[in-house]
Amino acid sequence: MALYSDKVMDHFRNPRNVGVIEDANGIGEVGNAKCGDIMKMYLKIENDIITDVKFETFGCASAIASSSMATELIKGKPVSEARELTNKAVAEALDGLPDYKMHCSVLAEEAISAALDDYSSRTGKTV
Ligand code: FES
Repeated sequence: MALYSDKVMDHFRNPRNVGVIEDANGIGEVGNAKCGDIMKMYLKIENDIITDVKFETFGCASAIASSSMATELIKGKPVSEARELTNKAVAEALDGLPDYKMHCSVLAEEAISAALDDYSSRTGKTV
């Protein structure tokens, strides 16, 4: 069996929602100390809906694919749903990741969570 699913390869080669949102109102940056990979998420939230999301990831193929898939999963969704997104859901949506690459999907969950925390602290809204 191939190490990576077709979906992982697709999202790695053609990542969705790469870039920066200049007027983002929630920004989160996280890193993994062991591998040194870094992920930054930008959220544009209006009326509790994530109207836009972009990311910059300096990391491995799994981290890039996880970022890309995570943005697709939360775009257009209520902030409450984004808050509940788990790394397992991201990995499942990618048709799985090798066990030793699961930590890459954790970065996506953590980056979104950090961006939502930032939104909360800017607006005083609990998310
Ligand atoms: Fe660390 Fe993928 S190897 S995020």
